[in-house]
Amino acid sequence: MNPAEHAARLRDEITRHNEAYHVFDAPTIPDGDYDALVRELRALEASHPELNTEDSVSHVVGAPASTVFSPVTHAEPMLSLDNVFDHDELRAWSERAAKSLGVASEELVFVVEPKIDGLALSILYVDGVLTRAATRGDGRVGEDVTENVRRIANVPSTLKAAKGRVEVRGEVFLAKSDFVEMNRRQRELDLKEYANPRNAAAGSLRQKDPAITASRPLSFLSYQLVELDGVSSFTRYVETIAQLATWGFLTAPEATTEIGATAMIARSDWFEEHRHELRYQIDGIVVKIDDLALRSQLGFTSRAPRWAIARKLPPEERTTRLKDIEVSVGRTGRVTPFAVLEPVVVAGSTVSMATLHNQDQVKAKDVRPGDLVIVRKAGDVIPEVVSAVSEPGRRRKPAWKFPTTCPACGSALVRVGDESDTYCVNPICPAQLLAQMVHFASRGALDIEGLGEQRVGQLLAEGLVRDVADLFSLKVSDLSSLEGLGELSATSLVNAIQGAKAMPLNRLLVALGIRHVGPVAARELANAFHTYAALEAATLDELSVVVGVGPVIAASVYEYVRDEENRLRAQRFAKDGLALAEAEIVSTLAPTLANRAVVVTGLVEGFTREGAEEAIIVRGGTSPGTVSKKTYCVVVGDAPGASKVSRANELAIPMIPASEFSTLLATGTWSTTL
Ligand code: IVH
Repeated sequence: MNPAEHAARLRDEITRHNEAYHVFDAPTIPDGDYDALVRELRALEASHPELNTEDSVSHVVGAPASTVFSPVTHAEPMLSLDNVFDHDELRAWSERAAKSLGVASEELVFVVEPKIDGLALSILYVDGVLTRAATRGDGRVGEDVTENVRRIANVPSTLKAAKGRVEVRGEVFLAKSDFVEMNRRQRELDLKEYANPRNAAAGSLRQKDPAITASRPLSFLSYQLVELDGVSSFTRYVETIAQLATWGFLTAPEATTEIGATAMIARSDWFEEHRHELRYQIDGIVVKIDDLALRSQLGFTSRAPRWAIARKLPPEERTTRLKDIEVSVGRTGRVTPFAVLEPVVVAGSTVSMATLHNQDQVKAKDVRPGDLVIVRKAGDVIPEVVSAVSEPGRRRKPAWKFPTTCPACGSALVRVGDESDTYCVNPICPAQLLAQMVHFASRGALDIEGLGEQRVGQLLAEGLVRDVADLFSLKVSDLSSLEGLGELSATSLVNAIQGAKAMPLNRLLVALGIRHVGPVAARELANAFHTYAALEAATLDELSVVVGVGPVIAASVYEYVRDEENRLRAQRFAKDGLALAEAEIVSTLAPTLANRAVVVTGLVEGFTREGAEEAIIVRGGTSPGTVSKKTYCVVVGDAPGASKVSRANELAIPMIPASEFSTLLATGTWSTTL
């Protein structure tokens, strides 16, 4: 292959990966392999300048925006960062920068920050009001995700005393713990799990329905302030970060200022050593020159600033022995293969099991019991087997075969059509019952304390329960003889189970594990139908028109409530005194009034007294009956209470006219006061 063909092939491949990563949020190769391809292309272009054309993908940042969202042209391009991979390259970068500034690299002041593996976002504020938010896209044109960003809880909707146009840039991410929780829910809903926190964050932000974004635990961390109007008085980067923090943005708590290249490199090592202890996934360290005047002197290349650099960290991989491949049976009967490993420390914790997803994956990876395998943690969290290591001269065992019968109940397993998953379809399979019951009692469901996997296992083994409905008739005397459960804990367990009867309908709907019904759909259903009986009576059409439900969920619910066994169970629930009614008030609206006390006095057009109060509460605020120092503002309607008005005057609390109430709800702020 000649160099031109080689470059063309690399460009092709990189373009494909760009699209998979940026447009579909579903990369097909590890980031490290992608970086290697780009480096290879750049090296080729460097040694054959005639190949280094303006439009080469090596100069392009990210991928073109998809067509689901409207395009937004960035006022200033959103650049990328150049990468280095070790100490020498990092030092060389700092020497180059120092040299062109005419100073010694040991005198330069650097800020060292985590490189968060999320997705870049730019948020525009006009006179302090959140006006537009856009993804990076190709760096020049991004996607308009304003409505979704309004629903990220820690993005301020207003900036105090900000004038003109201010752009705040940073990273949208999912904390590692939130990622684990979200994937657990995806699994429960029989939906695709995300490969890592970055994809999960991207998938959550780029939703057509902002309510879905609102239901995901996204966070935003800011690391850049772009003032589009006027010249500020900031002289150092750290001052801009302090301003962002004052406005209420999250900034990296681990960021430090270091004097000189040696200290800076040492700090980058600190990040390498502690990367797994951080709450977010990082794929490197970002080093920036603090002095803004020096930054201007250094300027930019076509794709990245010269005053900053990313030191990339490779994902941590380890080899270990694959002892065996086993399968587990989930709540829906899905049978999942997993690897049993010789314990090994990967990314900060000991791993002795790793999922293998499904039988096609096992086949594709061709891992066999006894093999030496490479293990890593996807997204720093989920252990996975990457591949087998070839060991010349060692005889491998024959390829692993997926079992044909359920390991728990012995019934024949079923693989439907060309689906990749295999199921145990025995409705009374003990492994399924166990998983269902554990789910029934779990935190997002009926939240029954003390009813975990081990306890449920005992109850089933002792024949004390056969169905979730049996739980409610358990008595202390039934339980106190169980191993590890004295009179006292048996009493608390029975109390916890009885306490769960008061749980609102939406929680019960989640607990029942109806296919496709997660917390969001459950809440919408409970809000729309109020009682379980009404759900049973609903037609398919009535179910489908509920916001956030749609035909797939509707069909699943329709079928579920009609099933004879489920009908009988619901009757038992009703007899046992389960509430089976009403949803808790959990809002999917933007938390524009989070932690703010808004007092309403007098009548506000279009709202009842309670309605106005609820509108404030569902946006995260409170609506107390009296004005105090802590009151955020007072909404003054028709025929206001004199004492509230005079108290607000006394304490200089802003009073706003009722006509501004809807603006207040939507933005958290107002444009005129009384
Ligand atoms: S500064 C012009 N700081 O990494 C400089 N970027 O590979 C703009 N990133 O596009 C970026 N953490 O999405 C900066 N502390 C940090 C970062 C960070 C993550 C992302 C960002 C950027 C990409 C470059």
